[in-house]
Amino acid sequence: MTSLPGDCGVTLQQRASGPLCPGGSLCRLSGERRVLLLCSGAGSTCSEVPRYHRALTMASAWERKCYYSDLGKKAVFLPNLLLCEEFTKDTGYPQSLEGVLLLADVSGFTALAEKCVQQNGPERGAEELAHVLNAYMGDILEVVLAFGGDILKFAGDAVLVLWRAAPAQMPMAINVALQCSWEIQKKYGTHDTHMGLKLHLKIGISAGILSFISVTGGDHQYFFICSQALDEVIEAQSLSADYEIMMSQTCWELCGQQRIRAESIAGRRAVKVVRMMHLARQEYRDAVGQLNMYGGDWHLKGTALQRPVLRSSDDREVAARLEKHISTAVLQKLRQDVPLELCSELRPVTTLFVQLQFPDTISVAELSSSLSDSSSMISEIISPHKAEINKTLLFDKGCTFLCVFGFPGEKLACESTHALECAMQIFRRASTGLRKLRQVSVGVSSGTAFCGLTGHPERCEHTALGFKVNLACRMMMAYPGMVSCDAETHAASRLPSYCFKELPQRDMKGVTNRVTIYQYMGITEHQNDMGLARERSHYGPLLGREAEIETFDCCLEAYELLEEAQILAFVGIPGSGKSHLLAELAVLDRATKYKVNTMELTEDNMKQPFSAIRLLVARALGLQGDETSGDRQRTLQTVLQDTVEESSYCLLNDVFLVEFPITDEVSEMCSAERASVFHLTCTQVLQKVLGGKYGIFFIDNAHFLDTRSWSIMWPLLQSVTVFMVMSLVPGHDRTESIFKAAADCKTSETITCVRLEGLKASAVVQKACQDLGVSSIPRELARFLIQRSSGIPYYCEELLRYLRCNNMLLLHTGRPDEGQDDWQSLIAKASPAVTAASSSGTRNDSERICTIRPDVSLENPMLPVALKEIALAELDRINLEKQMVLKFAAIIGPVFTTQQLVHIIPSSKRHGINSLLDKLVEDNILKQLDIEKPEGKGATKRLPTSGQARSGMKRPSVSRETMQQESKILAFCTPLLWEATYKLWPTRQKINIHCQCAAFLERHAHKCRRCHEGDFVAFHRFGISSAQEQGSCQGSAEKDDWSSWEALVVAGEHLRRARTLPAEGILAEGEHTTLRAKDSGRCCQCEAIAEAVLVPLARHYTAMGNASQAFYYLLESAAAYLHVSNSSMAFMKLNEAEVLRSSLEEKRNAVDRFEEAIFFSLKGEVCRNMGCVKLARKMSRQALSLLEKHFPQSRAGAFVKSLWERLQQISQATGRASFLPQEARRKKQAWLLHRSRCLSLLQDLYSQEGTSAGQRFSRLAALMKANTDRKMDSYQAADSNAGQL
Ligand SMILES: Nc1ncnc2c1ncn2[C@@H]1O[C@H](COP(=O)(O)OP(=O)(O)OP(=O)(O)O)[C@@H](O)[C@H]1O
Ligand SMILES: [Mg+2]
Repeated sequence: MTSLPGDCGVTLQQRASGPLCPGGSLCRLSGERRVLLLCSGAGSTCSEVPRYHRALTMASAWERKCYYSDLGKKAVFLPNLLLCEEFTKDTGYPQSLEGVLLLADVSGFTALAEKCVQQNGPERGAEELAHVLNAYMGDILEVVLAFGGDILKFAGDAVLVLWRAAPAQMPMAINVALQCSWEIQKKYGTHDTHMGLKLHLKIGISAGILSFISVTGGDHQYFFICSQALDEVIEAQSLSADYEIMMSQTCWELCGQQRIRAESIAGRRAVKVVRMMHLARQEYRDAVGQLNMYGGDWHLKGTALQRPVLRSSDDREVAARLEKHISTAVLQKLRQDVPLELCSELRPVTTLFVQLQFPDTISVAELSSSLSDSSSMISEIISPHKAEINKTLLFDKGCTFLCVFGFPGEKLACESTHALECAMQIFRRASTGLRKLRQVSVGVSSGTAFCGLTGHPERCEHTALGFKVNLACRMMMAYPGMVSCDAETHAASRLPSYCFKELPQRDMKGVTNRVTIYQYMGITEHQNDMGLARERSHYGPLLGREAEIETFDCCLEAYELLEEAQILAFVGIPGSGKSHLLAELAVLDRATKYKVNTMELTEDNMKQPFSAIRLLVARALGLQGDETSGDRQRTLQTVLQDTVEESSYCLLNDVFLVEFPITDEVSEMCSAERASVFHLTCTQVLQKVLGGKYGIFFIDNAHFLDTRSWSIMWPLLQSVTVFMVMSLVPGHDRTESIFKAAADCKTSETITCVRLEGLKASAVVQKACQDLGVSSIPRELARFLIQRSSGIPYYCEELLRYLRCNNMLLLHTGRPDEGQDDWQSLIAKASPAVTAASSSGTRNDSERICTIRPDVSLENPMLPVALKEIALAELDRINLEKQMVLKFAAIIGPVFTTQQLVHIIPSSKRHGINSLLDKLVEDNILKQLDIEKPEGKGATKRLPTSGQARSGMKRPSVSRETMQQESKILAFCTPLLWEATYKLWPTRQKINIHCQCAAFLERHAHKCRRCHEGDFVAFHRFGISSAQEQGSCQGSAEKDDWSSWEALVVAGEHLRRARTLPAEGILAEGEHTTLRAKDSGRCCQCEAIAEAVLVPLARHYTAMGNASQAFYYLLESAAAYLHVSNSSMAFMKLNEAEVLRSSLEEKRNAVDRFEEAIFFSLKGEVCRNMGCVKLARKMSRQALSLLEKHFPQSRAGAFVKSLWERLQQISQATGRASFLPQEARRKKQAWLLHRSRCLSLLQDLYSQEGTSAGQRFSRLAALMKANTDRKMDSYQAADSNAGQL
C-alpha cells in the first residue's frame, strides 16, 4: 500500500503568510468552493476553523500536499479502488468485487447553468456555476468521506460512491451508506442558491456484486463499474424524488431490516426509506473501520475523513500505473509544481459527448471488449487534436464519453472544425466497426467553461463545467443516432452550410431558452475535391496592398519577358488577408490576359495523398469536380496521348481516382522501379498540362499541399513555364522550404517571398469606415482598432463586429452636437473624428458618422470569441512555467515592471523569473521596453522620457545600468494575448492578485518630486469620509521604492506613447495638440504616473468590485491629466467616473459627498479648458454647493451674498481650528481648499464674460475666495502649531 503522511497541521501557517484580501478577513481562493476564514490579526488557530473542508481552500490543500510525496498529490484524483494494486495491475478484466453503491444526483443543475449564463454572461456564468456546484458538492463529499465512502466517479452534478464489503459485512455496509445518505439529505437535501433557484438531492442505494472493467485509450486508462447493482442504483436514484432516499429491492433484502422502515413502490424493484435507527457515533466509526478494505492506515490525521494513506510513495511503477488515470492537463501541472490557482481557468472549449448504446443482452465480457475498442478508437481520433477523454460513464448498457477540446495548455486553432470532424469520424467508425452496438449519438458544443478542479480537497477531479457542457450532453440525448452541434460550433467552424442541416426543436431537460441545433453531415469527398477558391465578390475592396500588387506586377513582367517559371509566395498569419489579396490579383487586367486558374487547399488536403496534383490538373483541364471517374479518365486519355506511355496510365489511378486497366508491364515492376516510373509519369503529366501554355495558377493555403504532391511538384515548379502565386501561413514545412529557396541564390531569381504585414493605420481607418458604412470614426476608436488589431484585417473586422453586436457604437447621420453646451457634446472635441484617407475630408450633413456610446470605455479588455481562440492557441504553445508568468503579468496590465511582477507572484515561483522573462522576450511574446528606445511605429529616433524631454535634465540618482539590473519594463507584444490571458482568470482568484497590484501601486500614487508629491486632487485622502478609505489596499513601504518609481515612470511614458502615437499618425499635422497646451513648460513625471499608476489603480479597484476606490482613482487620474494640461484624457477619465457613478446610484450606493464635489469641480475645469464657459460655471457652482457653499445666480442674491461675506471678513473666528483633532482639521482644510479652487475658477470664468454683471459675480467670487483662504490659513497655522508641539 501506498502514501501520504496524514498530517494536516501545516496549513494554517502557510495560509497566514499568503496574501490577504481587502479587509483581510475573507479570502476566496482558487478552489472555488472553499471559503477560507482568515483573521487578519495574528494568533488565529486551527481551532477557530469550524470544519476541515471549510478550513482549507483547494489551493491550500494542494500546497499542503507539497509535503506529501508526488504520488500522494496524485491520489486525490483517484478513487480508493484504484489505489489497490489488484485493480490497476493489468491482470485481465472484468474483475469482481462486492459492495454497496450510492448515487447522489443534484436536480436543477442544467437550469442553474442556464440561469448563471443569463444573469452573468457566458464567462462569469460558467464561473458562478462552478462556484455554486463546488460549494454544494464539497459539503456532500465531506460527509461521504467522513463515512468512509469511496468516491468512484463524478458526473457533473452527480456522484457515485462505493463501500466495499465482504458478503458477511453487507448489512453493516448498507447501514453505513444509509446513515451517510440520511445525514446528507438532512443537512444538504435542498440548497438555496443566491440566484433564486433551489437545488435538490436525490439518492439511490443498491448492493451486490460489481464488475470492474479497465480499458486503455492511447496513454490513458479508463475504468468502468458495471453490474446489475449499477443498473439498480440508477433506477433507485431516478425513482427518488427531491430530498428522498430510495433503495433497490436487492439492497433491501440484504440489509438489517429491523433497523429500517421502508415503503415499497408499486411495480418497481425499489423501496423508499422512511425512517432508520441511527447508529451511535462510535458505532458507525467502528463499522467504517471494519469496512476498511484497503489495509493499513486510512484515517487522515487531524480530520474526520477516511482515505487510504499511501505508503510506498516512491514506487515508480505504482506512480506510472496511477498516472494513466489522471488527465494530462493535471499531470503537467503536478510535474511542474504549478500553484493551484493557475489550474482553474475560464476558457472557451469545445465539448464532445459520445453515447454508445449497447443491447440489453450484451455480456460483461462483450461489453468489456467493446468498451476497450471504443476508448482506443475515440482516443486515436481525438488525440492528434490535443483533445482528451475527460470522463467515462457507464449506465443502463449505455456508455458516455466526455471529450474536451482546448483544455488549459491544449488549445489548437480551428478547434470547432476539428471537433466536428472527430465527431463524424467517431460516429462513422462506431457505427460500422463496433461490435454489438445499438446506436451511437454525438453532441458537440462550444462556449466558455470553467476548466479546473471540482470536488473536495481530498478527492477531486479536473473537468469542464458550464452551460455549454450540459447542452452537449442534452443534445446527445435529444437527437440520438446522429452528430448534432450548437449554433456556436456551426459558426466557429466556418464550414460551408451544406455540411449542416438545421434540426427541429426538441425539449431538452433544464434548457428553457430556444437554441438552434444542427446536424453535422460531414465534409464529403466530392465537396472537398472542388477546391475552388472563393470568388472575389465575397470580399470588400482591397486596401493598403499597393506594394504587394507592385511585386506581383514585377514577377509577372519577369515571367513574360524571361518565359521562365516564377513563384510568388505571400506568407501571412491567418486573417492577414492572403485569400483576399489572391482573389484581387486574379482579376487584375494584366492577369486576365493569361489563363488564370485558382484553387484553395484545406487542412483535409494534407491527409489525402496527391490531392494537390489532382486539383491542379483538374483546374488546368477545366474539370469542376462533379464529373464521373469515366469522364475524368477520357479527358486524361486525350491529354496524355503522345506524352505518357499508355502502359503507364494505370499508375495514375490513385492520383486521379480513375480506373485505367493495370498493365502487365506495371504489375511486373519491382516497387523501386514502379516508384521511379510513377514519378516520371506524374512529372510528364504536369509538364504537359501546366507548361507550354501561358498561365497563372493561384494556390490559396499552399501550406496544406500534401507530401506526395509536394515531392513531385516542387522540383518541377522551377522548370515548367508557369507563374504560380501562392499564399501560405508561417510555421509550416512548405512555408519554410519556400523561404529557404527564396533566400538561396540558385533559386532566388524565380522565387519571391513576401511577408504580408498588418495594414497601415490609415488603411485600418479606411477599412473601419467602409465596414461600418460611415465617413468618419472617432479617434479613440481608430486608436483602439489600430492597436488591438495590429493591422490584421480579420482582427479588425472581428473587433468591429463585437462592438456593433454589443451596441457600443452609435451610427448617425449628420454632425454630432458640437455646438451644444452639454457634457456629452464635448466628446467630439476630446476624441475628434478621423476620416478615411480616400474620402474628401469635408463632411456633409447627410453622411453617416460613427461615435462611441458615451458609457463605453475602449480601455477595458474586450475580446471577440474568435480572436480569443487565436490568442489562446498561441498561449498554449508556450510552456507552463512561462504561461504562469504571463498570467500574473496580465493582471498588472499590458505593460509591467519586474518589480510589480515579483510583488504578486507566489514566493515559491520567484526564483528564475528573470530568465523566464528573457526567454519570453526572445520568443517575441513579450518585448522589453528600453528607457531610451521607446516602442511604436514611426518612433525611429531615440525619444527621452517625459521628465527628460521637458526639463532637459537627467533623472537623479539612478543610473541606467542599475535600473536595468534591478528592474525591466516589459510589455505584451500583442494586446490580444494580454487580454486573452487576463480573461482566463476566474474572478474570485484574480481579485486577490488585483489587490496586491493595487497595494504596490498605491505607494506611488502621488505627484512627482518636482511637483512636491502629494495627491493630485489636493488633500484628497483627507477630504473623504474615513470609512471609505478602509477598502484601500495599503501596501507596506519597501526599500526599493525609488527604483520602482523610476521604472513605473518609464512604463508610463511608454503607455502614453502607445496611446498617442497611432492616433497622431492618422491625424493631420498638429491636430493632436489642440487640446494640450502647446508646451506647458512642465517638466515632471506626473503624466507617466497617471498612465502607469493612477489609471491602473482605477482598473484594479474596478476589477475588485471596489467602486468607491475606483472612483477615487479615476478622479486622481483626471486631476493628474489636468495637472499636465491634457484635457482630453481628463475628460475621458471623468466620463468613466460618470459611468461608475451612475452604476453606484443604480445600486443605491451614494458617492461620498466630497468625491462628488471633486467630480464636478474637475468637470468645471475640463469644460473651461475646452471652451465651454457656461457649462464650466454650472459645474463649478454644483461643486461649490456640494462643498456646502452657495454661490448665487441672481444679481439680488449676489448683492446680499457680498454683504454677508464682508461681514464674515470682519468677524472671522480663528481660534476654533486648534481645538479640533488633526484628522478633522485636515478634512476641513481639504473642503476649504476645494471651495477656494472652485471660487477661483468662477472668478476667472465671470471675469472673462466682459459684462458688468459678470464683473460683479467675479468680484463676489474673489471675496468669497479670500474669506475661504483666510479660514484655511487659520487651519494650516493650527496644523503647524500642532506639529511643533
Ligand atoms: N487589404 C484588405 N483590405 C480590406 N479588407 C481586407 C484586406 N485583407 C483582408 N481583408 C478582409 O479581412 C478578412 C480576412 O481576410 P482573408 O480571408 O483574406 O485572410 P487570410 O489571410 O486568407 O486568412 P486565412 O489564413 O484564415 O485564410 C476578409 O473579410 C477580408 O475581406
Ligand atoms: Mg484565406
